[in-house]
Amino acid sequence: MSSHQREARATNRIAVAFGVTAAAAVGLAITYGLGGQSQVEGALLAIALGGLGYGFVEVAKHLLPQGPYVEEREQLVATPEDVASFEQALERGQPWLSRRGFLVKMLGLAAGALGIAALFPLRSLGPNPGRTLFHTRWRKGTFVVDEQGERVRVDTLDVGGAITVFPQGSVGVENSQTMLIRLTDRDFVTRDGRETWGPEGYVAFSKVCTHAGCPVGLYQQQFKKLLCPCHQSTFDVPDAASVSFGPATRPLPQLPLMIDDDGFLRSQSDYEEPIGPGFWNRGR
Ligand code: FES
Repeated sequence: MSSHQREARATNRIAVAFGVTAAAAVGLAITYGLGGQSQVEGALLAIALGGLGYGFVEVAKHLLPQGPYVEEREQLVATPEDVASFEQALERGQPWLSRRGFLVKMLGLAAGALGIAALFPLRSLGPNPGRTLFHTRWRKGTFVVDEQGERVRVDTLDVGGAITVFPQGSVGVENSQTMLIRLTDRDFVTRDGRETWGPEGYVAFSKVCTHAGCPVGLYQQQFKKLLCPCHQSTFDVPDAASVSFGPATRPLPQLPLMIDDDGFLRSQSDYEEPIGPGFWNRGR
């Protein structure tokens, strides 16, 4: 088989490989659009990338000029043999140069289809959260209720007690879950500026861990600490739930409480800062 025939066959194989890549990429996009199936998507991606890789290897093996090349540094003047050899090499490369346009188009088709297919998973990022990360369901005057939806009264907890509470009407809403703790039977101040937040010794902190978002559900009554079971971050409740141990880097946000004329606990407002783990535009 002549070298021209070999190169022609290699060109066909490369074109087929790039075509397979394009077809697999289109199949990938369609599969994703129909709802997705991880195994099928993985197989199609492997075929697409495999086709691309195979094509590149074939180009390198059969179409690019092969060595070895030896240049005699001393002979800087071209001899007739050099000229003849150069012309021969140039001729050898001619078919490749003429096929290159076709193969570049096939490569463009394959890379384009793969690139478009790669854009589809962007849809999986879901809707823009907007301002929802900055707010919970707590509002001014919202009744504090327990996990059964019963309103919490000033006499619900003894000193030392702790329960999980929610805003009335939002039991189970994850970003609003809150730990309610009774530290004393007198107003309790955790920080300057929070003089009215802890009526009758009740203090409330977001239950969403500021490390990675696990529920901070364990209250150590003896030490007045809240403990996150995921990575053992520990929060010092009387000190405004500051971090005393573990990987969390900021305190649990405190919910301002009040007690109404009928003895029910209510929130004074939403949390004053975003709850849970930090994120890129949290602001502070
Ligand atoms: S999620 Fe709470 S310590 Fe990691």
